[in-house]
Amino acid sequence: MTDLPIIVANWKMSLGYQDTISLIKKYISLSLSTTNCRLIISPSSFVLSEAFKLVQDAELGIAAQDCSMYEGLGAYTGEISAEQLASLGIHSILLGHSERREYLQESTKAINNKLKLALQSGLEVYLFITESAEDNLHNGSTEQLVHQLNTILFGIAADKYNVENIHLVYEPAWAISTSLGHHNPNPDLVNERASFIKGYFSRHCMIDGEKIKVLYGGSVNSDNCNSYITLSDIDGLLVGSSSIDIMEMKKIITKL
Ligand code: PGA
Repeated sequence: MTDLPIIVANWKMSLGYQDTISLIKKYISLSLSTTNCRLIISPSSFVLSEAFKLVQDAELGIAAQDCSMYEGLGAYTGEISAEQLASLGIHSILLGHSERREYLQESTKAINNKLKLALQSGLEVYLFITESAEDNLHNGSTEQLVHQLNTILFGIAADKYNVENIHLVYEPAWAISTSLGHHNPNPDLVNERASFIKGYFSRHCMIDGEKIKVLYGGSVNSDNCNSYITLSDIDGLLVGSSSIDIMEMKKIITKL
């Protein structure tokens, strides 16, 4: 595994077909001149097949934004399984984003199922660990984080799964740029949380702490990226809205 910072661009459901293809091409050029980070794009599922073909000769990774909680192949209309994504050549996946938990009532139990299936299919997982404003107010309580980690990581240990394929994304729901009254967390809080998550993950999954990667996500832009990427327990950034703007993304990468 590389020790370069990991930068994940989460495009959510923000672009139509032509705009997605055009942005992928801009990212391909960007990736060819980028040596200071590992760059991964996460476009909507309807373009994954074409995106995969386009990036073949570029140093650009592709992550799906979700997978089904059902295994393999079967009668699950509208679903895409981890196995299907892997068969396409997709290498990475985002799981447990707080928007899915809020709007689609995705439970931590469902995320746990998806995580197991993604790991079984050999996918590298970017697993979101979220926190609500209320949880943050009852501070510095880590009670909710422990409960969340316990459920999401239930049954996941190094003797059964390749846990080195799990990267964690600490993303407070109130820090996402589109959330009501959003604001950026204090970098000290982010580092504290990242360190806590690393420690928990290391003990729970029986993995050497040095091998664990924690990314920060939530309103990352070229003005604030430095204050997060320089934190001792942060190994990368997950960028949403700013990642749609290639100039802004270039600035972020230049500042790493
Ligand atoms: P944001 O989105 O950078 O627009 O806050 C981050 C994310 O949720 O992916």
